[in-house]
Amino acid sequence: MIQTLEWTDSGVRFVDQTKLPTEEIYVTSKTYQQVADAIRTMIVRGAPAIGVAAAMGIALGVRDSKAETVAELEKEFNDICEVIGQTRPTAVNLFWAIQRMREKFERLRVRPVSQIKQELTEEAKRMHAEDIAANQAMGNHGATLMPSAGGVLTHCNAGALATAGYGTALGVIRAAVAQGKKIHVYADETRPFLQGARLTAWELMKDGIPTTVISDNMAGAMMRQGKIGAIVVGADRIAANGDVANKIGTYTVAVLAKENNIPFYVAAPISTVDLACPDGSKIPIEQRNTREVSHIAGKQMVPDGVSIENPAFDVTPAKYVSAIVTERGIALAPYEESLRSLAGADVQVQV
Ligand code: MRU
Repeated sequence: MIQTLEWTDSGVRFVDQTKLPTEEIYVTSKTYQQVADAIRTMIVRGAPAIGVAAAMGIALGVRDSKAETVAELEKEFNDICEVIGQTRPTAVNLFWAIQRMREKFERLRVRPVSQIKQELTEEAKRMHAEDIAANQAMGNHGATLMPSAGGVLTHCNAGALATAGYGTALGVIRAAVAQGKKIHVYADETRPFLQGARLTAWELMKDGIPTTVISDNMAGAMMRQGKIGAIVVGADRIAANGDVANKIGTYTVAVLAKENNIPFYVAAPISTVDLACPDGSKIPIEQRNTREVSHIAGKQMVPDGVSIENPAFDVTPAKYVSAIVTERGIALAPYEESLRSLAGADVQVQV
């Protein structure tokens, strides 16, 4: 199994996703600041993986604190959360993870410093294990939606590399394949960061799942030619009304799917649902360095001085989403009701 991220005694160990697929290199972040850098520079990426990395970063910072009293530790805890919370704004799993660690700290404040440190480490490890279990449950629910054979298109990487393991959208595909469905994956390359070409293709090849990489502008033609029976993608944040923020280009795929009568599914854990966010217009969209667009593998592709935009995510309105697969079951429209009933008592705070 791919070890996307892992807690070790010397720090948080990541497979460096900026180096894949040509080099499989593992790096260890030894401080919480290094974990924050790993999230910011996309050594680790994908909403659920960002959440677990954040929790581990907080646990690491707390573990290495020199604080002698709970009050001193709490001040450091807040500083650590502040630094981790500034890394990437769109994936709500980051803020969900910080909130969960904060609630744990609150419950532990009557305990000795050493015990607080130990239990926060355990909580982060638990979040890692829970994420894998959630993905497997999601896979089993979502596999029922997959065609028995044929092409399934995905955008970006919502796989083992984007989570603690197994994946959300790719978890659905993995579970369908395990059930005997003969799926051929079409992976959008996903400019500008190439998560589809570099990461989705890499992990599906490892699993022996047939995969074809296409450039993003080929997706419409493939749909029109009847090569795609379903689409499944992940999400970075799902608003209460079912609007979905995901990797830039997802909206284009969803509109093309509607035009071609192809079901468009979103697979994401409940931790990605932000009930405090009423609709997609309120989701903060990360703007990344324009160099990701202007350069490919270090080579300049555009004239000097030209204007460039690089929004990392877009919002797909709920009306294009055929179903949202979660670990607790499948949500159908109207999403205001179905998401709220699946999310149950879990309240989320929009940050
Ligand atoms: O910028 P990234 O690579 O972190 O974006 C990742 C995505 O958009 C994924 O589709 C999303 O986080 C879901 S991952 C299970």
